Amino acid sequence: MLLEMKENDLIVSKTDTKSRLTYVNEIFMTMAEYTEEELLGKPHNIVRHPDMPKSIFKLLWDKIQSKEEIFAYVINKTKNGNEYWVLANVTASVDANGNIIGYYSVRRKPTDSALSVIKPLYQEMIQAERSGGIEAGTKILTDLLHKEGVSYDEYIIAL
Ligand SMILES: Cc1cc2nc3c(=O)[nH]c(=O)nc-3n(C[C@H](O)[C@H](O)[C@H](O)COP(=O)(O)O)c2cc1C
Repeated sequence: MLLEMKENDLIVSKTDTKSRLTYVNEIFMTMAEYTEEELLGKPHNIVRHPDMPKSIFKLLWDKIQSKEEIFAYVINKTKNGNEYWVLANVTASVDANGNIIGYYSVRRKPTDSALSVIKPLYQEMIQAERSGGIEAGTKILTDLLHKEGVSYDEYIIAL
């Protein structure tokens, strides 16, 4: 079943450097249908959904490991097999010396119009990944950005 975030809700999580959950807010637990105990210490891919292209997660990790923020549309899977879409912002947390000490993500409800663009794009990327791997999935995205003449950030923010 497709679950929807409420208009003003924010889903928040923090992880250690290995993407193990160190903090989840109440709304995270409600949406993901897990208890705090079931989540803390687990890898963040506990909510991974098969409709997410691998190449989007590669882009996410490339960016956050270089201390750049990323905005990405993500579909997540709940404990009971339900699903929900978010627009996520993910960043690295750094100490005074600039070392990455963990990661942080805040998510809001995506608009229907953005999802009507993202869903077919992700399907196309997944399809490409089946035969050509992450490289082929990434190519679908970079070709699109090239055609539109925009960066990834510009494209996502304009949706
Ligand atoms: C702070 C943070 C938040 C993340 N949020 C999600 C998320 O909501 N859903 C998700 O599937 N992956 C999220 N990820 C990415 C996962 O760590 C993982 O890369 C992804 O689920 C793909 O799983 P896999 O690498 O095992 O294929 C997040 C990572 C970090 C560091």
